[in-house]
Amino acid sequence: MDPTRHRRPTSDTAGDPGTAGDDAELFWEQHYRTPRTWDARVNPLLAETATPLHPGAALDLGCGTGGDTIWLAQRGWHVTAVDISTTAVERVRDRARDLGVADRVVTAQHDLGRSFPAGRFDLVSAQYFHTPLPLLRNRVLGTAARALRPGGLMLIVDHGSTAPWSWNQDPEIHFPTPTETAAELDLDPARWSVLRADMPRRRATGPAGETATVIDNVLLVQLTAG
Ligand SMILES: C[S@@+](CC[C@H](N)C(=O)[O-])C[C@H]1O[C@@H](n2cnc3c(N)ncnc32)[C@H](O)[C@@H]1O
Repeated sequence: MDPTRHRRPTSDTAGDPGTAGDDAELFWEQHYRTPRTWDARVNPLLAETATPLHPGAALDLGCGTGGDTIWLAQRGWHVTAVDISTTAVERVRDRARDLGVADRVVTAQHDLGRSFPAGRFDLVSAQYFHTPLPLLRNRVLGTAARALRPGGLMLIVDHGSTAPWSWNQDPEIHFPTPTETAAELDLDPARWSVLRADMPRRRATGPAGETATVIDNVLLVQLTAG
């Protein structure tokens, strides 16, 4: 399926159900089943945020092929890695086993518009949790926020621009800004702190070694009171 044919927003769309369900599963299954070199590196903003933290329980929302999950597990985190694509979560599970961190990684297939993993977390990471299919994304992120332990962090990194090698080249796409995401989450300021809301630029390297400047939309919030 050509992802550029989809012209729906990547953030919330009105109405229930919260997801395109079977279409979404099929779309992402096809994406991950297509033979290509899968990028298994950690996302830089996740690495920057998590490096100073004491390892605990982490949730990787839309984990893809698991670059972040593996990186966290290698640093002592116990990670729940969730994705709608069975192929993706199987790849994460296999990599965790091959790299000797299977005891710190739990993988689960979830359409997060329909179901959510159990557990309480010190870190929730949503890295480029975008989809061209309908998804009540802010509802998912709200559920994730409620799964944090007191003191826990939620890091949401969205595209502010896409790299030339990205699967998503839709010129009509609007990626939510950190301010928009924070407003949609509507977190109670008595219980939540916004630690970071900015749009940094960075030099990104693609799967074939090509480089481009990209913008990330970064929101980091902390549950300060239980
Ligand atoms: C743009 S990719 C980002 C993957 C990974 N976090 C990364 O940084 O490379 C978006 C991910 O969200 C997953 N996803 C999309 N819709 C989903 C849904 N409804 N439930 C769970 N995962 C979903 C996709 O399968 C895909 O792996």
